[in-house]
Amino acid sequence: MTQDELKEMVALEALKYIPSSGILGVGSGSTVVKFIEAIHKNGIRVEAAVSSSNKTTKLLEQIGVRVLDPNECEPYAVYIDGADEVNPAFDMIKGGGACLTREKILASMAEKFICIVDKSKLVDTLGAFPLPVEVIPMAREQVARTLRAMGANPVLRQDCITDNGCEILDLHDFMIADPVSMERQINAIPGVVTVGLFAARGADAVLYATEDGVLVKNRP
Ligand code: 5RP
Repeated sequence: MTQDELKEMVALEALKYIPSSGILGVGSGSTVVKFIEAIHKNGIRVEAAVSSSNKTTKLLEQIGVRVLDPNECEPYAVYIDGADEVNPAFDMIKGGGACLTREKILASMAEKFICIVDKSKLVDTLGAFPLPVEVIPMAREQVARTLRAMGANPVLRQDCITDNGCEILDLHDFMIADPVSMERQINAIPGVVTVGLFAARGADAVLYATEDGVLVKNRP
């Protein structure tokens, strides 16, 4: 089975978690694109959504889903999104698609974060995937210096301006022993908008696709 087929499988399974009424939070990335396609193909009704990227907003609107400004919404029930890595405590690295800040905002508004991945994303320790950090452009070099002093190897993501007009530093060779504390430390650097560590608020359930079907793990 290809990774693409696994993503399709988990996207299909995620349809079961869409609330019958109210707002759905929708993330970003290729697994989420398949989730949006599955909503459309299976004629699932989504009353309204909040979206974590301009691309997701466009795709949702193309299939007729009304996308709301989060400022006009109360906290809602379910946020569905992919991840780049997930550890056994359900901490995640996200932001491979550069949408980490809006993703974190929507996750913070949701009662339940449902993470949809293929099995290749499950890891013991976060950090083999370069950790994205969204930065305000004029602070890039100072943030990079501080991150180097913390032992990371920040690399500016080329040709990438986020939906918020910011840049991304990807931290290579940076294995993360304590995700909650590292999230706090990096977020405290002046000029950092968000780090793509989702540990203070991790996933509540992880659906992961394997050759034998989609398995569900609930927060330990
Ligand atoms: C985007 C994200 C995505 O959820 C993450 O990169 C996983 O993407 P994909 O489903 O394409 O593997 O955090 O910012």
